[in-house]
Amino acid sequence: MIAGLGYVVIAAQDVAAWDKFGTQILGLQKADISGDALYLKMDDAPFRYMIEQAAGEPGPDVLAATGWDAGDDDNLNALIEKLEAAGATVTEGAADEAAARCVTRFVKSADPAGNGLELYVGRTDTGDAFVSPIGVSGFVTEPMGMGHAVIPAPNDQECADFYQDVLGFGMSDDLRLPPPAEGAPDMRIVFFHADNPRHHSLALGNFPTPTKCIHLMMEVNTLDEVGAGLDRVTQAGLPLMASLGRHENDKMVSFYVVGPGGIAIEYGYDGLQVDDWAGFAPTVSTSGDIWGHEYATPEM
Ligand SMILES: [Fe+2]
Repeated sequence: MIAGLGYVVIAAQDVAAWDKFGTQILGLQKADISGDALYLKMDDAPFRYMIEQAAGEPGPDVLAATGWDAGDDDNLNALIEKLEAAGATVTEGAADEAAARCVTRFVKSADPAGNGLELYVGRTDTGDAFVSPIGVSGFVTEPMGMGHAVIPAPNDQECADFYQDVLGFGMSDDLRLPPPAEGAPDMRIVFFHADNPRHHSLALGNFPTPTKCIHLMMEVNTLDEVGAGLDRVTQAGLPLMASLGRHENDKMVSFYVVGPGGIAIEYGYDGLQVDDWAGFAPTVSTSGDIWGHEYATPEM
């Protein structure tokens, strides 16, 4: 099984804009790692966000890959076997790419919707403690990983089966909502947990999005730090994808801000932690929110 979400790789149109957004709005710390990317830290891990310059035609930013902690080599090898047996292409990462991720070894693959994913082992800590440039006290991470990623999967059931049966994620909640627009299919978001207490480390939405990312979530230590984050967003005039609200399934109090190239960040607090997954029955929800979360677009 996967231990948690270790990092994400974003192909950004404007890396300098991400630097400003990441450090001055979100409160992440620029990490001093030699590599051809912007690295942003959230905790003692070497980095959590790797922002690369997008190649090719202008367009929105794209979530190039989610990076998952496979634990050890034995577990990674077993996952590679399962991926290949399921027909997925698995490519061993080159040494320089592994160094750029601060891991000893990783492989690249993709889910049945074409979302990039990486599985790694041997992440080395730089030993540098996290210090936010704007005074955020810290982020809720280990042992639960960096947060969660919600990604598009128009072939939702095929992808849900892939993450469950091939990679070993457990289902937390199956959210069914009315169609976002007349004539559109019902909206479905399936939530999965990894081998840690965070209610979900991954979710799949049954609709496409040009950024290959519905949102990425980071969790701060206090409600006041969510409020302070919302103040920074408002003062900077950045667009919200959703107003402040509390989710039904993971009870997270959060808002969603749209980053420089269109990738939305959920900035939250108070997410549900499940200590005993063996005693947890996956839920089927018909409501996303207890209160708030007024969405600016239906693609959420
Ligand atoms: Fe979320």
